[in-house]
Amino acid sequence: MSNLLRLTLYTLLCVGGVAGQTCPDGSNISTCISNINTAAHALNRTFLPDSFNLTTYLNVTFNAPEEEFEVCCKTFTFPAKNFSLDPLNPDQKAAHTQSANAPTLSYGSVSGKHTLVMVDPDVPSSTVGTLAKPLLHMLVLNIPDGNVPQGQIIARYNGPMPPDASPHYYFFMILSHVAEVDNSTIPQYSNGGNLSCGVPGRCLFDVKKFISDNSMSLVGLSWMRVSNDIFVNFKNMQSGRLTEAQVCANEPTYQTPCPDCLWSQQHTLGELGTASTSVTLA
Ligand SMILES: *[C@@H]1O[C@H](CO)[C@@H](O)[C@H](O)[C@H]1NC(C)=O
Ligand SMILES: *[C@@H]1O[C@H](CO)[C@@H](O)[C@H](O)[C@H]1NC(C)=O
Ligand SMILES: *[C@@H]1O[C@H](CO)[C@@H](O)[C@H](O)[C@H]1NC(C)=O
Ligand SMILES: *[C@@H]1O[C@H](CO)[C@@H](O)[C@H](O)[C@H]1NC(C)=O
Ligand SMILES: *[C@@H]1O[C@H](CO)[C@@H](O)[C@H](O)[C@H]1NC(C)=O
Ligand SMILES: *[C@@H]1O[C@H](CO)[C@@H](O)[C@H](O)[C@H]1NC(C)=O
Ligand SMILES: *[C@@H]1O[C@H](CO)[C@@H](O)[C@H](O)[C@H]1NC(C)=O
Repeated sequence: MSNLLRLTLYTLLCVGGVAGQTCPDGSNISTCISNINTAAHALNRTFLPDSFNLTTYLNVTFNAPEEEFEVCCKTFTFPAKNFSLDPLNPDQKAAHTQSANAPTLSYGSVSGKHTLVMVDPDVPSSTVGTLAKPLLHMLVLNIPDGNVPQGQIIARYNGPMPPDASPHYYFFMILSHVAEVDNSTIPQYSNGGNLSCGVPGRCLFDVKKFISDNSMSLVGLSWMRVSNDIFVNFKNMQSGRLTEAQVCANEPTYQTPCPDCLWSQQHTLGELGTASTSVTLA
């Protein structure tokens, strides 16, 4: 047997955990911190600290209700779904409807203060977010003893609204720190202190500077990918960012005005809906 084959078999059977599905620390393979740590390093994202070692499992759980809405002469339905993020599943994706409402966040057996940061580094607009300074989706400071609802909410959860065709990654970070973070220092980290931007107070969040200024360590990390879909575009239509004609450009049933008979057509989408109506925002 060649050394390469031997190594591959060893990796599959012993390290990868296929036999017995165990994590080196004895925990369930799907919440294996050392594997999540390896996967996080492999993503090699610019905004992450240059060095980190994850020590806690961050549980991000969504309870999404059914969503039904009418657009393009169709009634769309997304099914309800409860799920926890699985960062070890490279195929894991969430639909916008499934991640539109704030998740329940918890992390294990930790004392002391932590801060939660959620960001999107894949924004297609360099004045809103970049790989190094992503768009802020959520910020909760000074969480006591792992109790996220008792932290100071600086930025409430904004659900993913990716406008472009490629799926965006959304990262949830748990940062540990000793000293209390002074909430009056936060504005400087967004767009260099200029809060008038595409998403006021949330653009170009300087994660690395925030972490180093506050002597924080990244101890928990999870992530999901979300694609543009008809519900994202429908919401952008409601808020005036897109016209109905833009949203419905690829929908053959679209007519204006819409004949009553067409509204009766029901379209129950799969868990991920469709990504066919991606529109580029200016
Ligand atoms: C590991 O966790 C997964 C997902 O929560 C669950 O389906 C599975 O039964 C667990 N396996 C064991 C051995 O506990
Ligand atoms: C990580 O990305 C940087 C560029 O952002 C690149 O220079 C470096 O080689 C990458 N490292 C790995 C291990 O892929
Ligand atoms: C990362 O943390 C784990 C658990 O605390 C520890 O066993 C391991 O040695 C650490 N690795 C590094 C590179 O510091
Ligand atoms: C994650 O949290 C949810 C509820 O918030 C719970 O049902 C689930 O069992 C937790 N998963 C793990 C792996 O702890
Ligand atoms: C999701 O969880 C909520 C509350 O825990 C429950 O009421 C609801 O029926 C669940 N939905 C699904 C689709 O399992
Ligand atoms: C900011 O901190 C001050 C105390 O330093 C506190 O009174 C205030 O409630 C905090 N703001 C938020 C949004 O938590
Ligand atoms: C603030 O940022 C916005 C968006 O990048 C820019 O248009 C504006 O000119 C900036 N304002 C100042 C005072 O720099």
